[in-house]
Amino acid sequence: MKGKIAIVTGAAKGIGKAIALELASAGAKVYANGRTRESLSDLLGEAEVRSLEILPLPFDVSKEAEVVRAMGTVERIDYLVNNAAVCPYVRYEDLTEEHWDLMFGVNVKGTYFCTRHALEKITSPGGSIVNISSGAGKTGGAFVSMPYGTSKAAINNMTVTFAKLFAAKGIRVNAVSPGFVETRILDEMPIDRDRIRSDIPLGKIGKPGDIAPVVRFVLSEESSFMTGQVIEVNGGDVMY
Ligand SMILES: NC(=O)c1ccc[n+]([C@@H]2O[C@H](COP(=O)([O-])OP(=O)(O)OC[C@H]3O[C@@H](n4cnc5c(N)ncnc54)[C@H](OP(=O)(O)O)[C@@H]3O)[C@@H](O)[C@H]2O)c1
Repeated sequence: MKGKIAIVTGAAKGIGKAIALELASAGAKVYANGRTRESLSDLLGEAEVRSLEILPLPFDVSKEAEVVRAMGTVERIDYLVNNAAVCPYVRYEDLTEEHWDLMFGVNVKGTYFCTRHALEKITSPGGSIVNISSGAGKTGGAFVSMPYGTSKAAINNMTVTFAKLFAAKGIRVNAVSPGFVETRILDEMPIDRDRIRSDIPLGKIGKPGDIAPVVRFVLSEESSFMTGQVIEVNGGDVMY
């Protein structure tokens, strides 16, 4: 990925941080997005120690004007990873309009705004976009919240729509859809890890490092005949 330029949203921690480090380790220059510059300090510190080219690009993905401004500061985009999302645990009975607005604002509109406003800078042909979905997009969000599952189903649909719209420009759009992965999202859910492990055919919960190499592959030239796909990475938890 030497000479390539990538943007990873929600890169301050968890899966996004692992993706930013993975792409930079492969030689890309990575713009790491977080809501604030301060939230990116751990990632930037690690990049400095490892001599990786990771630069901060703070903005809120759910605010269109901030997205437009940030995309305007980047010279070119070869790879865009729409990873930022929110996933609060909310019981069905407790759902409010604010929960729907929050999850659709960040997860769905955020992905749309970043893709829409990156387009002008995306290398054509050859650009590649990966949206981070979730198994909940297919199996539903009953275990965490209905707006989360439906927001990820929307991401799967948006992936296909953008793939069709951008194919003529030689820009590929795919989704990588993790299953259970050890991050803050899992820490904040009232879940029984032993039960989850026993339900997953490969018998383990994933780590951010299990997702990042798949994202690198789907971004790269190695997958140049693949577009409009949702790739499940989940230890076999969802198999269709
Ligand atoms: N962990 C799992 O089991 C799992 C499973 C399936 C799919 N996923 C998906 O994987 C992706 C990463 O999740 P994760 O588990 O790594 O969660 P995480 O640790 O909570 O990371 C999410 C990141 O997104 C950032 N973010 C949230 N709202 C934002 C906004 N408005 N603008 C910019 N950045 C924002 C967060 O920043 P702050 O630090 O400022 O909050 C955080 O850095 C998400 O798309 C999630 O839906 C995760």
